[in-house]
Amino acid sequence: MTIKEIFDRMDYGPAPEGNAEVKAWLARHKGNFGHFIDGQFARPGTGFATKNPATGDVLATVTQGTVGDVDAAVKAARRAQPKWARLPGHARAKYLYALARLIQKHSRLLAVLETMDNGKPIREARDIDIPLVARHFYYHAGLAQLMDSEMPGMAPHGVCGAVIPWNFPLLMLAWKVAPALAAGNTVVLKPAEYTPLTALLFAEITREAGLPKGVLNIVTGDGETGAALVAHPGVDKIAFTGSTPVGRAIRRATAGTGKALTLELGGKSPYIVFDDADIDSAIEGLVDAIWFNQGQVCCAGSRLLVQEGIAERFHDRLKRRMDGLRIGDPLDKCIDVGAVVDPVQLATITDMVNGSEGEVYHAKTPLPGQGCFYPPTLITGLGTASRLMQEEIFGPVLVSMTFRTPQEAVDLANNTRFGLAASLWTENINLALDIAPKIRAGVVWVNATNLFDAAAGFGGVRESGFGREGGWEGLLTYLKPAAAAKPIKRVAAIPEPASFDVPDLDRTTKLFIGGKQTRPDGGYSRPVFSSKAKLLGHAGLGNRKDIRNAVEAAHAAKGWGKATGHNRAQILYYIAENLSARAGEFAARLRDLTGRDGRAEVEASIARLFTYAAWSDKFDGQAKSVPIRGIALALNEPVGVIAALCADEAPLLGLISAMAPAIAMGNTCVLVPSDPFPLAATDLYQVLETSDLPPGVVNIVTGSHTELAKPLAGHMDVDALWSFSSADLSALIEAESATNLKRTWVNNARARDWMGAEGEGRDFLRQATAIKTVWVPYGA
Ligand code: NAI
Repeated sequence: MTIKEIFDRMDYGPAPEGNAEVKAWLARHKGNFGHFIDGQFARPGTGFATKNPATGDVLATVTQGTVGDVDAAVKAARRAQPKWARLPGHARAKYLYALARLIQKHSRLLAVLETMDNGKPIREARDIDIPLVARHFYYHAGLAQLMDSEMPGMAPHGVCGAVIPWNFPLLMLAWKVAPALAAGNTVVLKPAEYTPLTALLFAEITREAGLPKGVLNIVTGDGETGAALVAHPGVDKIAFTGSTPVGRAIRRATAGTGKALTLELGGKSPYIVFDDADIDSAIEGLVDAIWFNQGQVCCAGSRLLVQEGIAERFHDRLKRRMDGLRIGDPLDKCIDVGAVVDPVQLATITDMVNGSEGEVYHAKTPLPGQGCFYPPTLITGLGTASRLMQEEIFGPVLVSMTFRTPQEAVDLANNTRFGLAASLWTENINLALDIAPKIRAGVVWVNATNLFDAAAGFGGVRESGFGREGGWEGLLTYLKPAAAAKPIKRVAAIPEPASFDVPDLDRTTKLFIGGKQTRPDGGYSRPVFSSKAKLLGHAGLGNRKDIRNAVEAAHAAKGWGKATGHNRAQILYYIAENLSARAGEFAARLRDLTGRDGRAEVEASIARLFTYAAWSDKFDGQAKSVPIRGIALALNEPVGVIAALCADEAPLLGLISAMAPAIAMGNTCVLVPSDPFPLAATDLYQVLETSDLPPGVVNIVTGSHTELAKPLAGHMDVDALWSFSSADLSALIEAESATNLKRTWVNNARARDWMGAEGEGRDFLRQATAIKTVWVPYGA
């Protein structure tokens, strides 16, 4: 080859990373692994091979975890947990610190093993995955250290079950294990069947760190092993990352068990390029967004939205860049795109693309002759509803469409059932910061993509799941209030007495929907009696259709989320003022309903309205200390439409305790008041009507909790459902919520002291908000 030819082609020579150390490690284990339980490797059982997807070579055999294996691991974790949790935070911090150091010491071995098992380019495993793993353990060593002083009154859940995917095998392990251990939980982790090896190497590293036996246990196997872990009664919390269908199955499987749950699921994240963007940067960003890890990234920027005026130019340049991407041996330091994880995944990607009605462009770069490789691909000309526009492909395939105006970009970006991440490219900071809050996603990158850090929360909204990983917010998902709650007592309505007094003038109470008092759709109501044999009135019995109307009204009122905290506070104060003016009347009503003196409850309700008026403009976000030149803003956004089955035992205070935090944080709500004592809520309509509250922000549907729980939990447009009902509805609500994976907050038949501190505060504010992390790198 002449010098001129070399300059013309500018090809890299091969630069393969050695794998002798990995081979030696595998040989040490005779290529055959048992589970890691109670601090040691069990004898290997019947299992399956894990292969290198770039070559098809078998790397090792791992054991298929049985129900018995899972049980042994959970028992080991249970035995170890109390002692682990009793350690001072500093002692746990030292273990996490030791793990971080050891990950750095073994970083090359881990990176090469990850690349061989998964097929990702060594450059990524070495420069992104493994450093982030170490960072995660360092960061959580810090959280363990600070927990005792910063998280008073909180306790670990106990035993955490972690089920993780194959796209970032060790990083996903770190995301689950580091916070769980920092918080004082012990863990049983099931790695993905395609990529179990770095988890097993990590298990060995925990021994070097001297981690007490049973604190971390690893059971290998497929989905059945995962399902056994999820179902095990000895597990207190499940943390899952993977596909939305499996997330949904796990939501159903854990419903009503009292197990805490976080789900980090799929996405179809928009990558929005405005016409004033720095095109070169946006194209390089796109390479990272969709060809990083062969597109097998939950937050991959897999849906390109490019402004019409630059679309043609952008696509042309993109195709040229795609043609220059190098695909090949993942161990070669010069390649850009490695192997897809498994022939099954390759077949899925191929089928999806072959079935597409769009215009398909495959990069002209040559593919290796063998192994699971798929070329970088761009598909244009698809309709918004087409399958490839809506479904996760989880491969190196980008779909693209154009938009004209910023508003259209927002509409298209949000036209998905997912809500994980988004990237925005524009040189106009005003435009970026105008758009970022409008995108329904848990993470937004401005002029960047795929930035992650342990200090910044990561996670989605809608069908991308719930809960955050990373930061203080991530730690909280591994903690619960330390105080043990008492079982709730079922509160029943006062039965119809044999004879009763009737009021002088009949007062018909209705529902409160869209700012209007409306009759219940079914035309049914039920009599409400006092303990002194008096007919107090009739309460409407709302049905499924009333719930639909109420949710629609709540949606129509979503402009409330854009009102300033100051304005929302004014209205909450005004509600308090108007309630205070009628305190005597409400106290009498409460006495009639419950037989108790109602004055204290009215006073507490007024105070609670003040509390959340105060919080309206004070539940601040954070600027996270991420290691980039730039900031990551954690914004507390409203969840959307929050529905609540309010406490039966506190007819007025229970309703206010759900309503006030929800609307203070900018949500709109659908409230089902106390089932036995609904009339305090119906009296409140007039207070709400005279307090400048925009119509639809608060909607109240009286009726049976048991009947209304199902339509609320199954409603696709309800974003969160809280239940403080004394009826035991947790199982039903959690199972039904799997439809749209709405957030749920259920009492699991536990009582709450509504008059006391646990009736208000940060827990409510956290439930009423979703954290959006907006990354804004600096630089001209
Ligand atoms: P998956 O969701 O089936 O697997 C993730 C993990 O869950 C694995 O460890 C698996 O063994 C386990 N699992 C499977 N069924 C289970 C069950 N019923 N109960 C408990 N655990 C269970 O993902 P899979 O099959 O590997 O990939 C299929 C598709 O899922 C991909 O094409 C992609 O679209 C999506 N996916 C999304 C990920 C993300 O991070 N959002 C990660 C992996 C896959």
